[in-house]
Order: sequence, then structure tokens, then C-alpha cells
Amino acid sequence: MLAFLKRLFGLGTPQAKTAPEPRAQTATRSPVRTQKHVDHDAIPGALPAPRAVPAIDAPACNSDLLSMLDGRDHFNATLTGREEAILAAVSRRVESGDLVLPVLAATSMSAMEMTSKNTASVADIVELIAHDAVLSSEMLRVANSALYAGAVPCTTLRDAVVRLGMRATRSMIMSVSMRTMLLRDKALANIALEVWRQSQSAAQIARAIAPSLGVDPERAFLIGLLHDIGKVALLETVRREVRDKVEIRPCLLGRVFFLQHERAGQRIAAAWKLPEELVSVAGCHHHYERNQDHMRSAALARLAHTLDLVLSIGGTGEAQRLEKLPEFDVFEVPMERRPEILEIVCETFTAARETTAG
Ligand SMILES: [Fe+2]
Ligand SMILES: [Fe+2]
Repeated sequence: MLAFLKRLFGLGTPQAKTAPEPRAQTATRSPVRTQKHVDHDAIPGALPAPRAVPAIDAPACNSDLLSMLDGRDHFNATLTGREEAILAAVSRRVESGDLVLPVLAATSMSAMEMTSKNTASVADIVELIAHDAVLSSEMLRVANSALYAGAVPCTTLRDAVVRLGMRATRSMIMSVSMRTMLLRDKALANIALEVWRQSQSAAQIARAIAPSLGVDPERAFLIGLLHDIGKVALLETVRREVRDKVEIRPCLLGRVFFLQHERAGQRIAAAWKLPEELVSVAGCHHHYERNQDHMRSAALARLAHTLDLVLSIGGTGEAQRLEKLPEFDVFEVPMERRPEILEIVCETFTAARETTAG
């Protein structure tokens, strides 16, 4: 088990690959539970958010690509001279503050501001969303999806916002913005898709386990969604560096992400004026114990990411072996409660995949 985790996270000394990577197994479906978690939403009458929320067009995981981007496979690849030059150029840009920072949609910035200050009304949020056709249709789709649907279908944006709740609506706005940002450029589209899938999955897992860890679910969602936001800036920067049509191998992106994504994450989160907690987590989550201001949030990000990574590559059969993840200790989760939490994780992970495939 330890060896498996070490291989995934590049811990220890890099060594030649001697065995094929484990492939994702067909996820076994856990029985769907009806228990709802406590929702901390501000809108009276909003339905409690379901534990698993439909993914927004996230693709199925490409486990080989994931292993290269986020495991240690990139260590085993020898970069060409041209790739080394790109890596050096991107690293210089990160270190000198010359990153290419995608612009966060004005809708997202406004939604973050409104909801964090608690000054927004349902009408304010509806007006904000109504200007964005893609966002409006996503809101209605999710509000009427099997997981949220009530006795009466939502036909207006107002109904949809009330059904989801103000803060879940904010999460949805951020998700749609992030997807639009990542997928608008066809260059490196397969990698952008995997970054998108991973952030969605981590967000949903974080939200699902949040009540068991004593964390607010919607805050957990944003932590999962945005903790690796540095990868978005790095993708843009690599796209800018590589103006020709020469193919970029995933191992180069894996190396760039490994070396620079936290530093890039801090920059982009600050540029987007995200809450200080999210800036801090984006800048330091792999060694969460070093994040003095937001250690628990950083540990949550790392936990959600690890759970997605292990299940994506090893399948849900790996879940039982994750009870000893040290992040659980941060939240003082007793050992006897961990199997139940991991069951929730498998259920969320599987539901997200099934929804996505549909
Ligand atoms: Fe990360
Ligand atoms: Fe991550």
C-alpha cells in the first residue's frame, strides 16, 4: 500500500518503472443512500444538497494520462532538449511573476464577492446568472437532475437558485467558469480535460465527506475545486510558450505541474481576489502541515485529491486500504469511522462517473 501511494505521489527516490501501472477497474456501484448531509445554506427553504452532485460534463478519467500528470510516471520519462527548454522557460515565468493568468469570468468574481459578504439576495444572483446563457442552462439542468429534483420541475432561474441554495449556486458558477476557461483552447485539450475532471471529482468528494470532518460542505467544495488552480495558469503558460503545432507530451506537463503548480496557484488565486483561505490552500497543500494558517483546509484538499487519484487509478477496491491516510488524523477521525467515510467517497466517485457517462 505504501509503495502504491509513493508511486502515485512521487515520494522517495525516482526509479525505473518495472511493472505496468495498475489500471482503473470498473467501479463497483455502492448502494445509493438516502441520507442527506446538513446544509449550511443561507436560503430558507432550500433543499439540503445531495451528497453526490452531478458533474458538469466532466469526462471519464484517462488513468494512464492521470498517472503521467499526477503520479510519478513523468519522472521516468526523459525530456527532450526542446522540452527541457520549455520547462525552464515556464519555470522562469513562474519565478519572475510573468505567468499567463486566465481571466476569471466577471460572473464568478461577482458571485464570490456577493456570497462571501452575505449581501446578495436571490434576485441579485438570478440577475447575475441571467446574463450568461451557458450558466443559466446548467443551473436549470442541475436543479432538475435526479439528485436535486423535487416534485415540481424548476422552470425559472429563480426556482433553480432557491432549490440549490445560494452557496451551492456559487459553487456551480465557479465550476462552469473553470470549465469554460480550461476547455476554450483546443491546444492540450486532453490534458485540460483531465485537469477539469480531477478538480470536479476532488470538489465533489470534499463536499461529500465534509460533514464527517466537521467542515462546511460548500466551503469544502471550493477547496477541492480550486486547490490545483495553478495547473490552469501553467497550461495557459505552456500554450503561450509553444506557439508551433509540435506535439507536447504529457510527461512535460506532469513535470511542470509537479514543480510549479502550487506557486502558480497562489499567484492566480490572488490575482482572482479569491478568499485568503483559498489563496493559501492553492499555494500550499501537498505538504499541508507546512500551511500554518489553513492546515486543515490544505489537508482536506490533499485528502480529496488523494482519494480521487487512488480510486481513478486503482479502482474502488483500493478504498479500504486508505483508512490510514494521515489526513484523517488531522481531523481526528477515529479509525472505526473511516470505513463509513470511505464508503461515502466511493459512492460519490461512482455517482459522478455514472452521471458523467450518461
Ligand atoms: Fe496539488
Ligand atoms: Fe490536487
